[in-house]
Amino acid sequence: METGKGLEVRNLSVRYGEIEALRGISFTVAPGEVVTLLGANGAGKSTTLRAISGLERPAGGDILFEGQSIAGLNSEQIVRRGISHVPERRRIFPGLTVKENIMLCGSNRRASKPELASETEAMFDLFPEIRPFRDALGWTLSGGQQQMVAVARGLMAKPRLLLLDEPSLGLAPLIVKAVFAIIAEIRRRGTTVLLVEQNARVGLSVADRGYVLETGTLVLGGKPDDLWNNDAIRAAYLGGAKAKGHALAEQA
Ligand SMILES: Nc1ncnc2c1ncn2[C@@H]1O[C@H](COP(=O)(O)OP(=O)(O)OP(=O)(O)O)[C@@H](O)[C@H]1O
Ligand SMILES: [Mg+2]
Repeated sequence: METGKGLEVRNLSVRYGEIEALRGISFTVAPGEVVTLLGANGAGKSTTLRAISGLERPAGGDILFEGQSIAGLNSEQIVRRGISHVPERRRIFPGLTVKENIMLCGSNRRASKPELASETEAMFDLFPEIRPFRDALGWTLSGGQQQMVAVARGLMAKPRLLLLDEPSLGLAPLIVKAVFAIIAEIRRRGTTVLLVEQNARVGLSVADRGYVLETGTLVLGGKPDDLWNNDAIRAAYLGGAKAKGHALAEQA
């Protein structure tokens, strides 16, 4: 696989004091791919994204983006390299309007105010559901709408790699569907995406490949169908056949 232009995580470990949250994980995301990282609570999914975006310092290993090591760079430097991180639990500013929230991330770039304003308008083409709320304060939006604002803000940095941490968290199934339709559209536009999900069914629905993380170790990786078709894996990590049926019914 060609990874020279994508992301390559090599033997990455991250510690929080005594806790070894990541124990030497290695994986790749090729340009244009959507790769989903699955795993239970505390498996180390967010830590992986936080290490890539410079919010945690690796204790060991390396992270290469477009062929260059980014391990140890700070988060601003990493944003400038073309990586944007939409963290867990949508962090939108409650006292700013939707438009202001979306424009914030673009302000890292050397773009004029009118340019940013027109790009913000273009975001409403991708997220028509939030267009009517452009001048509403962040706190007045529903959870799903806030998630859309958070993703739109991440995209304003024009990333070549978008890191998305549990975009479905706490959202009703219909809203999850809408958010994932947007992820599919982001992929269609050619942005590489590393997606973290606990909901394997939706997480794999948009993915080219997936990995399963278990207490800081990657235990499996493959195409979505291969992950689903492995009974033992499905039972252990993906909620089992019954759960899958249930999730399918829920999504239908
Ligand atoms: N700031 C921190 N200080 C100490 N330990 C932490 C910190 N952040 C995470 N951990 C621990 O590191 C491990 C991995 O946490 P992480 O948040 O990466 O998991 P996760 O897979 O994202 O879980 P979740 O699905 O609940 O979001 C857990 O054991 C967690 O308790
Ligand atoms: Mg997490």
